[in-house]
Amino acid sequence: MNTILGRNKLKILLLENIHQVAQQRLEECGYQVTMEDAALSENNLIEMIKDYHVLGIRSKTRLTEKFFDKSSHLLTVGAFCIGTDQVALQSANLRGIPVFNAPYSNTRSVAELVIGYLIGLARGLAERSQAAHKGKWIKSAKGSNEVRGKVLGIIGYGHIGSQLSVLAEALGLQVVFYDIVKKLPMGNARSVDSLADVLKISDFVSLHVPDTPETRNLIGKKELSTMRKGSYLINASRGTVVNISALAESLRSEHLSGAAVDVFPQEPESNKDIFETELQGLANVILTPHIGGSTQEAQENIGREVADSFIRFIQYGSTTGAVNFPTVDLVAHKNSVRLINVHKNVPGVLKNINEIVANVGANISAQYLATDSNIGYLVMDMEYAEADEAYKQIIKLETNIRTRILR
Ligand code: NAI
Repeated sequence: MNTILGRNKLKILLLENIHQVAQQRLEECGYQVTMEDAALSENNLIEMIKDYHVLGIRSKTRLTEKFFDKSSHLLTVGAFCIGTDQVALQSANLRGIPVFNAPYSNTRSVAELVIGYLIGLARGLAERSQAAHKGKWIKSAKGSNEVRGKVLGIIGYGHIGSQLSVLAEALGLQVVFYDIVKKLPMGNARSVDSLADVLKISDFVSLHVPDTPETRNLIGKKELSTMRKGSYLINASRGTVVNISALAESLRSEHLSGAAVDVFPQEPESNKDIFETELQGLANVILTPHIGGSTQEAQENIGREVADSFIRFIQYGSTTGAVNFPTVDLVAHKNSVRLINVHKNVPGVLKNINEIVANVGANISAQYLATDSNIGYLVMDMEYAEADEAYKQIIKLETNIRTRILR
């Protein structure tokens, strides 16, 4: 879509009960926002979206190639969640539609839950609580410890791992970590050279790596046997990272004293489906239904983060945080018009655009370009008079995917 659109005419559709903070922020900017509680079927959405310029979804709405074919007028899409598997990202990219998400909005929620696991495991909470519910009284200090002074080994020192590091030190744990990338240690944490070294020295091992070919079964029989006898394993990262059978065996043989697991290789699709794992029924094992990031605060952060990405993109053309688009980070343009062009990334395209700009006599005050293998994203700040003429000529180029003007 090529556009010269006034702010109050911009219409945004938010589906799947997105946190109301998103609506508030977008309405404060003057946009018209429609909220729907549920996801829509593909055909209903294709029909409804004709009247909107921006779409926000969560994980239940699937946006396919067919959807983008019929909705290529969309300016942008926001996935108000962490994952973007539900969106045909390449199809959106080829049509010049950036897709934003909020990958780190629930970092703190996960780190806090892991602190809960640490204390819960050290005090045998799962077992004692279940017993108390059944009328059994297990009052004993045997096997119960403070976490203060214990060694926490963090595997993957990214957003969650490093946040956990800070919280754990505040509780008096000694933190060591291993990451494949060199990371700045927070506080008194110490980087260790290998995964095996972390496993050997830690009382608790907590996993915070992504799902990659290298991290599948990162913790199997060999790694579990490398862990200290009586230590604990925590996995709130991805279900593929731990070999569940090997973990169950290590717990049964009492090599490990306990485990807390939030993510599983096979997880139920919905709350109505049955959940099964070999870890069920084992002593001192905390099992949770992938709730590490599921808090009200995280939902609100997600609402705020994606709404802000929309605003920065609509008002300034900034694509920072888009998962399928070249990144150009921009601030407001003053005393000029901003012309934004998405084009096919083929030889000669910039020459043609520059020729147009030169021919209309536009004075460019700033120019930004970022590309990926499919598209180029070009932003030019120019004087008012010439922008409209440049726009008219640029949208006629064969390489033009979409062009818009921000005033
Ligand atoms: P991040 O990308 O910020 O950090 C991941 C870190 O792991 C990076 O520093 C990376 O260099 C490191 N890494 C990658 N491969 C490694 C390897 N083989 N060995 C050691 N380190 C390695 O990711 P973030 O946000 O900290 O998330 C971590 C994990 O937590 C992800 O798998 C994510 O899906 C999961 N997660 C789980 C949630 C839940 O509800 N349980 C909620 C949010 C995230």
